[in-house]
Amino acid sequence: MVDLIAAIPPANTVIVAVVGVLILRAVHEIRRGNVDRHKQLMIAATALFSLFLALYLVRMFLHGPTSFAAQNPTAPGWASTFYYAFLGTHMVLAVATIVLIPFVYLRAMRSHWTEHRQLATKVAPMWLVSIVMGIAVYFLLFQVW
Ligand code: HEM
Repeated sequence: MVDLIAAIPPANTVIVAVVGVLILRAVHEIRRGNVDRHKQLMIAATALFSLFLALYLVRMFLHGPTSFAAQNPTAPGWASTFYYAFLGTHMVLAVATIVLIPFVYLRAMRSHWTEHRQLATKVAPMWLVSIVMGIAVYFLLFQVW
């Protein structure tokens, strides 16, 4: 059980990397005018992202947050300060993205394409940046020090 919980952070890092690739592909497809493919890829990205969130919440519930100092006892003090500032920025961006994603879908479901495009062109980059930062958080916490 403990091993399964420990496997969640690396598994989730791979999952969000795939989500990032799906978002990039989906944006590429809509730019080529391929609505069906864009829709399929965004739904796949959202489904996989939901799996990531579920696993993240399972780990938070069973294990709690990981202390940077406990995980990296030899790391210098500035590394911990940098890590928590970076983590905080990532979390604010990730929460904002998660709140906005349903509105992007609502606009698509109502065929409000101009509004969909306006919001989605902000949400897709936010989503991608939060994914890249999330992957960096994994490496800072578990691999660098
Ligand atoms: C979270 C999910 C989604 C995100 C992040 C997203 C993202 C985007 C982005 C960034 C664009 C603008 C591309 C550009 O011109 O540079 C766009 C346009 C578009 N999306 Fe989505 N999309 C999502 C879901 C959907 C769904 C479910 C549909 C359903 C068919 C859809 C249909 C369209 C269409 C038709 C356009 C072109 C709108 C226009 O300019 O007339 N999208 N989307």
